[in-house]
Amino acid sequence: MPKKKLLFVGAGGELASKVLPLLSKSYDIVGIAGRRDDLRPYCVEMYKGNLLTGYQQLFETAFRAHQFDIIIWNPVRYFFTSLMQSTRESLHTEFDIAVALAVECLKTARKEQNFSGTFVLVSSLSAFGYRKDLATYSIVKNAQVRFAKVLAEELKGAVVVKIVAPGSVRAIPTESLGKAFISSLENEYPERVLYTVQ
Ligand SMILES: NC(=O)c1ccc[n+]([C@@H]2O[C@H](COP(=O)([O-])OP(=O)(O)OC[C@H]3O[C@@H](n4cnc5c(N)ncnc54)[C@H](OP(=O)(O)O)[C@@H]3O)[C@@H](O)[C@H]2O)c1
Repeated sequence: MPKKKLLFVGAGGELASKVLPLLSKSYDIVGIAGRRDDLRPYCVEMYKGNLLTGYQQLFETAFRAHQFDIIIWNPVRYFFTSLMQSTRESLHTEFDIAVALAVECLKTARKEQNFSGTFVLVSSLSAFGYRKDLATYSIVKNAQVRFAKVLAEELKGAVVVKIVAPGSVRAIPTESLGKAFISSLENEYPERVLYTVQ
């Protein structure tokens, strides 16, 4: 049986470095990476670009070239700041990458290939806690949890929506992280939207 095809947006950095080598054993991965493209060997194809400025072209190129079973939305921009020290611009960027661009990605997938697979958002356990220097991060990560639940209602019967919320990736055994992802991708628990892992 051919491998399922998976689009991994944000195919670089700490979490992707742990997860992509595992997932590449079972899935054909197409990556969209920012500046770091060292995970290219785990991908059947890798596109590079800035999502904030070039998202439309990146998504259209990927969705016209490949038919996907799964999309994983992983990118993040960290601004280590308290809420009161954040700026409107940094808040816009964080929300854009966490929510607005993820919606654009899914809209393009639906338009270009009537995508009807599994859409997985990567959030964080920080969504549920408070740390001063992760204040705005926790807000957008929490927004992603709500986003996934709303999307799951809106696209019921058409797209399976999941959210994976890890604790500190450095502290999680790679195998546990892999298991959480595969369980969500394969819809092991159909009623469950949120998959926490620590
Ligand atoms: N690390 C952890 O301990 C941890 C814990 C819990 C949850 N998470 C979640 O896991 C996900 C990944 O986190 P991470 O720590 O692995 O982040 P990371 O190391 O900063 O990697 C983020 C990825 O997103 C890409 N990206 C960000 N902005 C982009 C843009 N404008 N255009 C294109 N690509 C862009 C980065 O590209 P560049 O190469 O250009 O930077 C990189 O590939 C996030 O959703 C985060 O909330 C992480």
